[in-house]
Amino acid sequence: MAKPHIAVVVGSNRRDSINRKLAHALAKLGAEKFDTTMVRIDDLPMYNQDNEGNLPPEVVRYKNEIAGADGILILTPEHDRSIPAVLKNAVDWGARPYGKNSWAGKPTFITGTSPGAIGSAIAQQHLRSVMVSMGTILLGGEAYVTFKPDLVDNEGNITDENTRKFLQGFLDQFAALVGRLSAQPARSAA
Ligand SMILES: Cc1cc2nc3c(=O)[nH]c(=O)nc-3n(C[C@H](O)[C@H](O)[C@H](O)COP(=O)(O)O)c2cc1C
Repeated sequence: MAKPHIAVVVGSNRRDSINRKLAHALAKLGAEKFDTTMVRIDDLPMYNQDNEGNLPPEVVRYKNEIAGADGILILTPEHDRSIPAVLKNAVDWGARPYGKNSWAGKPTFITGTSPGAIGSAIAQQHLRSVMVSMGTILLGGEAYVTFKPDLVDNEGNITDENTRKFLQGFLDQFAALVGRLSAQPARSAA
């Protein structure tokens, strides 16, 4: 049976994003159970309801990538105790136009990292409340990761054994959730 396909959204437009680094490490860690695509969000225009009638091509591509995935993995940085603007912009495009919500019914795992001790916890909590409203089905638990310069090595492996096991547990649960839900018909968009 084909592996489920996971769209990975990294909420950063920074070249050396630590969340992108962690995203690649998670894709590698979960590779036995699912395939991944890194979804680009830094080319999306600023959301404007005036453009809903004629969606820019970047938005069409992006929405198709979200809508076509079996599950969504989102890594959020924390900016000023919330999610970065570039990620909120991507969430909004995913939700619109009305009746074309690309997020509806998607099993979703939210995690993220920051150098601070609470590892993007507040941003993740904000994102959870947003994504529940979008109709995603969130994986339970809390996966906050404090970033250290040696967290991910040059081969994309998570170096610390405890952190690796902690995140592997979430990826295993996420793969199981995606498998269970893909057996059910998708909910209609809101
Ligand atoms: C505008 C701004 C606000 C930030 N606010 C927070 C914050 O509230 N909490 C935190 O832990 N780190 C904060 N940081 C530090 C980020 O965690 C750090 O820049 C991290 O590298 C961002 O993730 P990225 O590399 O994936 O873009 C902030 C950084 C910026 C640029």
